[in-house]
Amino acid sequence: MNEDADQLARAARQLIDTDDLLGGGFLPAEHHPLPEVQTSAPAAGAEAPAEMTPAQKAAMLKALDEEEVRTCTLCGLHCTRTHTVFGEGDPSAALVFVGEGPGADEDATGRPFVGRAGELLTKMIEAMGLTRQDVFICNMVKCRPPGNRTPAPDEIAACWSYLIRQLQIIRPKVLVTLGNPSTQGLLNTRVGITRLRGQWQKLPELAPGLGGIDVMPTFHPSYVLRQYTPDVRGKVWSDLQAVMKHLGLAPAARKGATGR
Ligand code: URA
Ligand code: SF4
Repeated sequence: MNEDADQLARAARQLIDTDDLLGGGFLPAEHHPLPEVQTSAPAAGAEAPAEMTPAQKAAMLKALDEEEVRTCTLCGLHCTRTHTVFGEGDPSAALVFVGEGPGADEDATGRPFVGRAGELLTKMIEAMGLTRQDVFICNMVKCRPPGNRTPAPDEIAACWSYLIRQLQIIRPKVLVTLGNPSTQGLLNTRVGITRLRGQWQKLPELAPGLGGIDVMPTFHPSYVLRQYTPDVRGKVWSDLQAVMKHLGLAPAARKGATGR
């Protein structure tokens, strides 16, 4: 069956990727589609937006991208961008990754995480037994900061409502914040990623419907590429495994257990 061949190919790809990038010691998980996000109806009088169907979510994200973000001039980053980078993936994803901002490759293509750091993020996602299409990937700012500098606080503030609305539409079960800007911005803290990573946090009530979403901060893939040590890779993998467990995804088997 086609599906079987697909699964096999994916498993094989995961094997190579996991060994390669997460430092070995683990076999990737089998592919398990993420569970549907269960959201209860908002309490009477609450302002939380009503739950939308996947088609409605897709349409709302598309409208936000095409009618607002692509033409946005709210901060200075619009002057130097080639493309805005809205983000991509499953509009109803249970799992959302939030990075910092587009780099050169993302600016050139309009797609998030497609450069070197993106390759590593893709491998991290595949090591979890998922694909990029199963999750949603976006950034704090939608336009590239020149020279890949960290986005400035006023730029993050200008772009903030787009991210908030993306999260309100998707309403994921888990957010993985990659590196300091997204971790500190979304958790409203000055504590650094080195102290926060690996520990479950709750999203503050940034907007109706968002309070209490589970957040797992971890290192940014660009940092992992710069500090490519077993220690750093092991920490990221351990953070991702905690996310898998939380989402009910099968944990990756230890290599030794299968005699490899
Ligand atoms: N780094 C990020 O933070 N985001 C991207 O989209 C690419 C690299
Ligand atoms: Fe608008 Fe965000 Fe781009 Fe600034 S970074 S111009 S706020 S889309």
